[in-house]
Amino acid sequence: MTNPPMIFVTFQLFFFFQLLSTIANTSYTPVEHFAVDCGNSGNVPSSDQRKWKGDDGSAPFSLIDPDKATQSIKPQVRPNPPNPYDTVRLSRSEFTYSFPVTDGQKFIRLYFYPYSYNPNFLRSDAFFSVKAGPHTLLKDFNASLNADAGVSRSFPAPEGAIIREYCINVNPGERLNITFTPNSSHQNAYAFVNGIEVVSMPNFLYYTKPDDLQSMRLNDATQQQYTVKNNSALEAVYRTNVGGGQISPDRDTGMFRYWDQDNDYLESGERSLSISAGFGLNLIYRDDQNYFAPDNVYKTARNYGMNEKSKFNVTWEFEVDSVFYYMVRLHFCEFDEHIEKAGDRVFQIFINDVLVESLADVMLWTQNQILVPVHRDYAVWRPISGSSKKLNLSIKLQPHPTARSSYRDVLLNGIEILKISDSNDNLAGPNPDPPQSTPLPTTPSSESSKNRNKAKVISIIVGATSGFFVLSLIVLLIYRRFIRAPVKEGGSWWGQKSADSSKKNKSHGSSLPSDLCRYFSIDEIRAATSNFDDIFIVGVGGFGNVYKGYIDNGTVPVAIKRLKQGSQQGLHEFQTEIEMLSQLRHNHLVSLIGYCNDGNEMILVYEFMARGTLRDHLYDSDSPPLSWKKRLGMCLGAARGLHYLHTGAKHNIIHRDVKSTNILIDEKWVAKVSDFGLSKVGPTGMSKSHISTVVKGSIGYLDPEYYKRQRLTEKSDVYSFGVVLLEVLCGRPPLKRNVEKQKSSLVEWVRKCHREGVIHETVDPLLIESITPECLKAFSDMALKCLVEDGNERPPMNDVVWGLEFALQLQEGKEEEEGLDVAEIEGRSEERALIRKVTRVGESREGFTSSDESKASRLTTSSSEDQSLSSGVIFSELGHPTVR
Ligand SMILES: *[C@@H]1O[C@H](CO)[C@@H](O)[C@H](O)[C@H]1NC(C)=O
Ligand SMILES: *[C@@H]1O[C@H](CO)[C@@H](O)[C@H](O)[C@H]1NC(C)=O
Ligand SMILES: *[C@@H]1O[C@H](CO)[C@@H](O)[C@H](O)[C@H]1NC(C)=O
Ligand SMILES: *[C@@H]1O[C@H](CO)[C@@H](O)[C@H](O)[C@H]1NC(C)=O
Ligand SMILES: *[C@@H]1O[C@H](CO)[C@@H](O)[C@H](O)[C@H]1NC(C)=O
Ligand SMILES: *[C@@H]1O[C@H](CO)[C@@H](O)[C@H](O)[C@H]1NC(C)=O
Ligand SMILES: *[C@@H]1O[C@H](CO)[C@@H](O)[C@H](O)[C@H]1NC(C)=O
Repeated sequence: MTNPPMIFVTFQLFFFFQLLSTIANTSYTPVEHFAVDCGNSGNVPSSDQRKWKGDDGSAPFSLIDPDKATQSIKPQVRPNPPNPYDTVRLSRSEFTYSFPVTDGQKFIRLYFYPYSYNPNFLRSDAFFSVKAGPHTLLKDFNASLNADAGVSRSFPAPEGAIIREYCINVNPGERLNITFTPNSSHQNAYAFVNGIEVVSMPNFLYYTKPDDLQSMRLNDATQQQYTVKNNSALEAVYRTNVGGGQISPDRDTGMFRYWDQDNDYLESGERSLSISAGFGLNLIYRDDQNYFAPDNVYKTARNYGMNEKSKFNVTWEFEVDSVFYYMVRLHFCEFDEHIEKAGDRVFQIFINDVLVESLADVMLWTQNQILVPVHRDYAVWRPISGSSKKLNLSIKLQPHPTARSSYRDVLLNGIEILKISDSNDNLAGPNPDPPQSTPLPTTPSSESSKNRNKAKVISIIVGATSGFFVLSLIVLLIYRRFIRAPVKEGGSWWGQKSADSSKKNKSHGSSLPSDLCRYFSIDEIRAATSNFDDIFIVGVGGFGNVYKGYIDNGTVPVAIKRLKQGSQQGLHEFQTEIEMLSQLRHNHLVSLIGYCNDGNEMILVYEFMARGTLRDHLYDSDSPPLSWKKRLGMCLGAARGLHYLHTGAKHNIIHRDVKSTNILIDEKWVAKVSDFGLSKVGPTGMSKSHISTVVKGSIGYLDPEYYKRQRLTEKSDVYSFGVVLLEVLCGRPPLKRNVEKQKSSLVEWVRKCHREGVIHETVDPLLIESITPECLKAFSDMALKCLVEDGNERPPMNDVVWGLEFALQLQEGKEEEEGLDVAEIEGRSEERALIRKVTRVGESREGFTSSDESKASRLTTSSSEDQSLSSGVIFSELGHPTVR
């Protein structure tokens, strides 16, 4: 059993997730849905749920072609994109598609792929207008010019293709006629279309209900009511799932709308946080109106997150045609369980810098209920200055400046922007300027805007019912299986369907390796901890308590991690740890001894790390500070553990949460890396050098490259480890409040001092006498190399190991050369600290174990090469009772 089973199981679950999402409940079933593959014939195979049909006459709609001039062309050399783009209907005369539809509101989607379909119809000659009933959708539309300019990015058209989406209202008894008219004043001009979709939609999805008194307001000084009347037409220009991924038409609520992700529209330099609700949480829809947006829109959002103290607007910008009115629909859904009532999260919304919502309070809108989706509509009109064809429509959110809200934060889940037809019933904007001309600053090609807003995006997942971090479909699925199918030794760990062949099971290793990992009954665990007696608690973690217990008739001390009852949080970590740790054996990794999941209990049993976390020995604790050599030794140990993780196991493993509290120390002062809850199996193929993933980790240790690009590599661990090295050197946390601004970030501060050649100013005052300048230089150089912006330039862990060994040699060499009695110096500094401390707290010797005592007695025969024998050892042991 060498493969960590987690990888495969994860893949299987992802696959399951895909299935689930494609069979997702479509909450609206269109009365009619035409998908016309123009120029094709019969039924056309499709990769999604839309049933494309050719327009050869057998279809239930008619093609009206008064001059009998249209041609259908299936180019022999097919253009790249598949249907509906690979065949075309075109003509130099007007032609009409006439659809028999019920009355009511419809989406019309037009698909164009400008192309020289044959020598008579050149790409650049496509120049035409399109009307649907009385509404002008496109006017004197130069298709090639629009395609070359990139046009709207909001729909997933293949390179070079164009998709436009409109909404119109069909009156009772009318047919829906869509007419294509070439511009007759241009010689050779022709009209063409590759695909047409007509999908009915729920009434008043976007149009204003006649009796709606709450209709949207205009974003100007008048704030007057504005209605979208049923005789106007709309064009959907942007539709984004804020804080989440793209949602394909198949996964919409039944209308085959596309939802883009919002990253490209965030103002550059944006540092908002994308968050998502735990999977399995059910949204509560008001009045059964569950078709406005898919669940996935409401289950992801963007807010300030960890930047809560900063003051800025979260800003999105969308380039739109000038002159028109726009309807902006903002979708909200509060899913953070910490938000309990109206007033907890109050913010302001600006559209085009006009305050449109002075007291946005989602909980107020939902009568204090979380998980209730709501949306708000705003009408936007901004008179343009000059003759710009385009302008930016901006949406800005900032916490309410004065409200006493407990969470000074904002929230937004989705954005839709629809253009409203003007008084001539026209929706068509001007053609873009030709791209080859030098772009004017006011009208950049969309191509450049495509690349412009690569925002810094940090994502975390918020579980509405279980606090922060790491809840997902996978967790839920595992959780269910886990709870319902308790793991037995050698049994099927994941409760997989028996349909899975046993061969597959074997090769994918989906049962736990019982030879490596011991199974404990709950009774054994109870016996080990006196039925979870509080006095055995040695730590309280995010997902539950850690107890010290004794197994094997009370002879072997162990650490027992008990997952909180009924808590989904941490479950994924729990699973991952078992899978990972049971495969990994290394002197510098905390060993997993076994696990227990009797009934609802989820428990992990580890080797006991008598001296707690590395951080406990650095600052903010009662432990005496450590000598420099001991600190170096522990950094070296942890570095070896990480190096093993990255390269030593069969699969490269990225820890993802390296920090000083995840490095534990045993009674022999051996540092071991622990807490694999967030670990990821690293990329294996050569082609893929990173894993793209939701960003997880701890504030202060996060690799900036990782949260900017959401690319996870081993170098993210190297960065975090660099932060730990600085903590060790400087004896302070990575982030510190209430200090001068330039010192608040440890990394920034050390970088600055290093630049200015005053690195010694950052060193822990307790070390300054013992650390040699050569060692300080080697150590700090290595730490800062780990922290360079560009992950590729950071050293791999084995270089770090080597660098730390070198630093240790420098320290020892210098000591020998100068005949320094370092132990004495270190003893002095530690004594000082001890005295300071002893005067505060009375110490007990309770925690002394027999091995501690033997070490203490060995001290009397002090041997200088044993670094653990500095006088600090005794003091530390005095000051660090094993059970706290
Ligand atoms: C799908 O949505 C409809 C309408 O809201 C609801 O009645 C039905 O129970 C849902 N089905 C499932 C399987 O969720
Ligand atoms: C359409 O734009 C192309 C440039 O992409 C240009 O060559 C062509 O002349 C334009 N056609 C018309 C009819 O203006
Ligand atoms: C659509 O076209 C058909 C055929 O030309 C015509 O009879 C009908 O009146 C048109 N309908 C509308 C609403 O324009
Ligand atoms: C053809 O397009 C031009 C703009 O390029 C426009 O001025 C003209 O009115 C159009 N002609 C027709 C017949 O639509
Ligand atoms: C369109 O709006 C008008 C006025 O609000 C209303 O009288 C009419 O019934 C609406 N038509 C449809 C088809 O909804
Ligand atoms: C957010 O944007 C609005 C509108 O432009 C502005 O009035 C406000 O000062 C901005 N807030 C911050 C914190 O920049
Ligand atoms: C819209 O904003 C982007 C980025 O801020 C800018 O590059 C572009 O020029 C703006 N477009 C217009 C029409 O102002």
